[in-house]
Amino acid sequence: MKKGKTLSHAIVAASLGIAGLGFGFSAAADVNPPLAALGMPPVPRDNPQTPEKIELGKLLFFDSRIGGDASVSCADCHVPKQGWGFNDPISRGYPGVIHWRNSQTVINAAYLGKLFWVGAAKSLEAQAPGAALGAVSGNGERDMVEARLAFIPEYVKRFNQVFGDDWPKVNNVWKAMAAFERTLIHNDTPFDKFMRGDRSALSEEQVRGFQLFQGKANCVECHNGPLLTDQKFYNLGVPRAEDWSESGLAQITFRYEQLAKGVTEKLYRKIKDDAGLYYRTKQKSDMGKFRTPPLRYTAYTAPFMHNGSFFDFDEIVDFYNEGGGTNEFTDGVMAKNKTKLLKKLGLTDEEKADLVAFLESLSGEEIKMTTPKLPPYAPLPAVVQAN
Ligand code: HEC
Ligand code: HEC
Repeated sequence: MKKGKTLSHAIVAASLGIAGLGFGFSAAADVNPPLAALGMPPVPRDNPQTPEKIELGKLLFFDSRIGGDASVSCADCHVPKQGWGFNDPISRGYPGVIHWRNSQTVINAAYLGKLFWVGAAKSLEAQAPGAALGAVSGNGERDMVEARLAFIPEYVKRFNQVFGDDWPKVNNVWKAMAAFERTLIHNDTPFDKFMRGDRSALSEEQVRGFQLFQGKANCVECHNGPLLTDQKFYNLGVPRAEDWSESGLAQITFRYEQLAKGVTEKLYRKIKDDAGLYYRTKQKSDMGKFRTPPLRYTAYTAPFMHNGSFFDFDEIVDFYNEGGGTNEFTDGVMAKNKTKLLKKLGLTDEEKADLVAFLESLSGEEIKMTTPKLPPYAPLPAVVQAN
């Protein structure tokens, strides 16, 4: 553990008035943001929240007419009953294909400055078109989306009320969806309650897990701040998901994505695993790196990691206890990038259980929602038969 960590613990401990948690006190320059309760998400100036906009965004989030063949909505891959993600290791895709990565939850996405597993979008407004128009997700077309919405009188009325549009403008679709997503927040977990001063919100086991998280297990090195993520990128050597080798479709999508992301032909021929951040930067040193995910709501979002290779917290803790993975399917370059921050932890069975208990405290009540009643198309005009 780096020296800086102890100061951040001291801040947390001090702000809580906790004396007996055993955090050290020492000054150092590089201090990670302390773990803390989560407040409200930021709202961009040019897209203020209004109840009407949020309601419109909710309808659009559940409406498959946004997707290319009018069969895929955001909620089909961000299923409320599946942690607002998708329960398969690799997400379902646009009809006929499957995706190539695990579907992330949209709960608390409103707080993130780097969205997607490799941080490819910086705001929800910028993320939504990527999802709705991306070939393996929504596969929509802007003009088609606008045309469809223009045939739905209820949307014409609502876009006019909310945005002053003569007919629904596609850029305002993204704004409304983002406004809705900013209401999908999870900031009242047992952990948040504890950090706000309710000492009884965590069990003794969870408090011990909290200490381990910040101490011996050093999870806080990357999962820090109120979101429990530093939003930086690391290669942990996550193993390949077990069913990947058997899924021809997943492999086809994988190959397609290599081309779509512009890798060289040489790499295209030899690459066997998701190179993560590399696709954005084309720097070898970024191969296999993914954004640290936030940890709230994870009780509902298994399987975990960019490729869904772990199904529960026990597997995750075992993985970290072994010092992470090995990038087993790559030929060296990717493996070299494995972060030095992961080391064997030597946790006892009791400590592992404590850590798992703490992870559970990062989720409160499930956020439930049923599909809203979606507005119908205008009736087609009656065809007049000419005699
Ligand atoms: C076919 C499945 C699919 C559809 C449809 C889909 N998504 Fe996603 N979504 C995913 C997957 C998979 C990821 C992770 C992809 C990646 O990082 O490369 C993701 C990531 C996200 C994220 C990032 C969360 C984070 O932690 O960074 C948000 C937000 C999101 N989707 C919102 C939406 C919205 C809004 C829509 C509708 C316009 C939508 N998604 C449609 C599968 C889908
Ligand atoms: C070096 C930075 C780093 C450290 C240290 C670290 N993590 Fe992570 N964590 C990550 C990254 C990056 C991912 C995503 C990796 C991927 O998908 O390839 C992740 C993923 C996870 C996930 C899955 C979340 C999801 O939504 O899929 C959990 C749970 C988790 N970490 C818990 C822990 C625990 C517990 C510890 C301490 C034992 C820990 N992490 C230590 C960076 C780190």
